[in-house]
Amino acid sequence: MTEPTMRIGKILIDEATISRRVAELGGIITEQYRGQPLVVLAVLKGSFVFAADLLRAIDTPLAVEFVGLRSYLGGSTSTSGVVEITPDVKYPLGGHHVLVDEDIVDTGLTLDYLIKNLATRNPLSVRIAALLHKPSRTLKPIPIDYLGFEIPDEFVIGYGLDYDGRYRNLPHIAVLQPDDEQLALFPTP
Ligand code: IMP
Repeated sequence: MTEPTMRIGKILIDEATISRRVAELGGIITEQYRGQPLVVLAVLKGSFVFAADLLRAIDTPLAVEFVGLRSYLGGSTSTSGVVEITPDVKYPLGGHHVLVDEDIVDTGLTLDYLIKNLATRNPLSVRIAALLHKPSRTLKPIPIDYLGFEIPDEFVIGYGLDYDGRYRNLPHIAVLQPDDEQLALFPTP
């Protein structure tokens, strides 16, 4: 059976709700790190929209770095379990607090790998900011210090999150769902 084609489903979190929550998180993070050496490490590609908004809501000096982590294969909605760093962070993290900025924590495998990797670079601390968390999918529990929203076990797109490289430019978080015509081809009993 071929994979059904996918389309944008219902809006799970709208633009205004995201914006309010990101502003709140920015305020909390500002209080936490004021006057301290801070590096925000955004995990590419999915977190680039969240990072752009969150950074501007943080009112204390900081450096921004990017790290690429890939665990999904194109056209798939589940992790391969194998995490690859593409590209790596060049900034020396020793002597800095690191705030990892991630789009979504699903199984936790990706961040578990990254947190262990960062620990070898002698940062003052490592904390996690994640826009979304799917608690029902946890394989490796991740302490999320600054969480936007908990969501149910649905594959979501938009606000930086993609399916097979598409939909990152949606301003809200929506559910990805099989095309209606495809649903008709494969009706649920
Ligand atoms: P984890 O290793 O299973 O926690 O997966 C983390 C990565 O998988 C995220 O950074 C996303 O890139 C991707 N991912 C997990 N769930 C979704 C989803 O619902 N939509 C889009 N990407 C997702």
